[in-house]
Parts: sequence; C-alpha cells; structure tokens
Amino acid sequence: MDKVTLTRPDDWHLHLRDGAVLDDVVHWSAERFGRAIIMPNLVPPVTTTEQAQAYRERILAARPAGSRFEPLMTLYLTDNTPPAEIERAAASGIIHAVKLYPAGATTNSDSGVTDMARCADALEAMADLNLGLCIHGEVTHPDTDIFDREARFLEERLAPLLERHPRLRVVLEHLTTAEAVAFVRNGPERLGATITPQHLLMTRNDMLVGGIRPHYYCLPILKREHDRVALIEAATSGHPRFFLGTDSAPHAQHAKENACGCAGIFTAPLAIELYAEAFDAAGALDRLEGFAAHHGADFYGLPRNTDTITLERAARDIPADLPYGDTRIVPLRGGTSVGWHLHTATPGN
Ligand code: NCD
Ligand code: ZN
Repeated sequence: MDKVTLTRPDDWHLHLRDGAVLDDVVHWSAERFGRAIIMPNLVPPVTTTEQAQAYRERILAARPAGSRFEPLMTLYLTDNTPPAEIERAAASGIIHAVKLYPAGATTNSDSGVTDMARCADALEAMADLNLGLCIHGEVTHPDTDIFDREARFLEERLAPLLERHPRLRVVLEHLTTAEAVAFVRNGPERLGATITPQHLLMTRNDMLVGGIRPHYYCLPILKREHDRVALIEAATSGHPRFFLGTDSAPHAQHAKENACGCAGIFTAPLAIELYAEAFDAAGALDRLEGFAAHHGADFYGLPRNTDTITLERAARDIPADLPYGDTRIVPLRGGTSVGWHLHTATPGN
C-alpha cells in the first residue's frame, strides 16, 4: 500500500500556545486534523469558561483562510475550581473536557491539583454533566524516579479516582508504559487513552545514546523498548479506547537547546505522517483510520468527520527549523525526513 485514504483524523491532545506564535503553529494541525482537544496550560492557565471562549476566538482567527479546523476547548482544573464553573463550561457548548495536571508534573502545571480530594465536588459535577476528565498521569513526589512516575500513578491515584467517581469519563493521556496499556485494557468502558507518535516510534535510547537530544525530551519521558512495543500493540489492535493524541508541544529552539531545556516535542508539521510510519512499520496501516479518526470521536460522543485525507508513502524533507513568533522552532525530525506525506485532503463536511 503506497497510498492510504482515511476519514480526516482528529487530535485529542494538542498544545497551540497563544499570542504571536499562534499563526506559526495552528496551520500545521488545521491542514491535517478536523478537530483537536486544546490543552489549557497557558500562562496564566485557562481556568474559566470566559477565558476558554476568548482563547478559542484567537485560535479561530489564526486558522488559514477557508479552514474548518475546530478547536475543542478544555478547562484547567485547580484545587479551587468551583462546581459552578463546571456548569458554565458544560453549558458553553465549546468546552469538551477538563484537564488535570498534578501540580508540578510538567510544563506550566504549577497551578495544578495538589490533592484530588479537593476537587471531589468539581469531579462530581463533571460526572453529572458528562464532561470528561483528561489526566496527565504521573505522580510528582521528588523521591519517585522519573521513569516510574506513570506506573506509580495508576495504582496510587487513578484506580482510587475511578472508584470514587464511578460515572466520570476519563482519558489517560499520552500513555508511555506497558503498565498503562494494561491498566486501560482492564479498565472500565468510561476510561480511554491517547498515544503520541514519539512514544510509538522512539525510546529513551534515541534520546540519550550517543549524545543528549533535547528535541526528544517530553513528559512523560520516553521509556523502554518493551513499553514502545506494548504501545504499538495497543494502537494497532483496533481496541476502541486507544486513540490519537499528538501532545505536539511547541517550545522555541533556545528554550529546548538550553542547560535546563523545556519538556515538549513539536510534531504538528508531520504528526499524521509519523503515525502512518509507525503503523506501516507494524504492518497495520489498515488500523490507522480507527485509531486516528473513529475511536476518539466515538469516545467523546462527537460525530466522526465526513471528509478524508490521503497519505502517500514518499520521503519528505523536514526543515531544520521553522518560524515561531520572532524566534525559531525545531520540529521533530528537523533536518531529516519522514517516510510519508500528506497527499490530498478533500473539502470539509
Ligand atoms: C507539554 C507542554 O510543553 O505544554 N510538555 C510535554 O512534554 N508534553 C505539557 C504536557 O503535556 O505534559
Ligand atoms: Zn500535553
């Protein structure tokens, strides 16, 4: 198969940032995806419906002419999110999930949740209103090894949370371990999960052997080969609760190539192409459409897209760096190539 046509995919975990860089970031996703769940970890974070509405307008204004790319907004959960704010969010029609960052877990998570018990009322309101919770699933104790933080979160935090809130819909984001794959498989129907292209294609060896590669650094951090194999098996299995979420997380080149570099990999310019490469390598291109275009929409209770994209097996050079406001940004594979390219996209719905 040298060409594959699929229902236009959606990205169920995306960072677009804000301000001057929006024009340089949004178009990459808009060319490929129909919709995206937009992460709220701005500075300051998007904690109110009003802020989410204003942010959505700025994203819409940054779309290329004629684009129908639809940003699905989220709220940033804090220790103090009032249930009334959850009610406003659910009534807005533009907010599709609430994001839980354990405080200190990742980029711009300082205002995140310090103790889930403090959010119990907000989480019950979400369950009542069928507003889902997206979770960055890592514990943050300083004494927990960074490579164990996701696995520890599952039993220590996620299992009790699912038990305390038996009607809450939950997406465990950016799975990185075999343990997380097993947890989701054995979990209830209301538990879904996203998987990034970098975790399907790379391990910590790619980041650390032969030199340290800051553009491969993201959170949760890349893991071992047996974890990557488990993620490939999950993504290509056809299981409806695993779906695409790029976690494309742009940071300026100088902030990545730094003595204390930021976490986040910028994959938006080649995201669906990277997934095609991963599925192709696994001999599972026929499973890409379900993972990329059907499972997420079904889980979120949204209609599937009706237009299509076509990907072609042909190497495409990826520029070494790209404009990012008044700075530059290095995309994943910058200065090298990707084995698939976006051939055509049919007009929207
Ligand atoms: C994300 C970012 O930069 O906003 N970084 C990352 O490494 N994935 C935050 C996140 O999703 O953890
Ligand atoms: Zn993210």
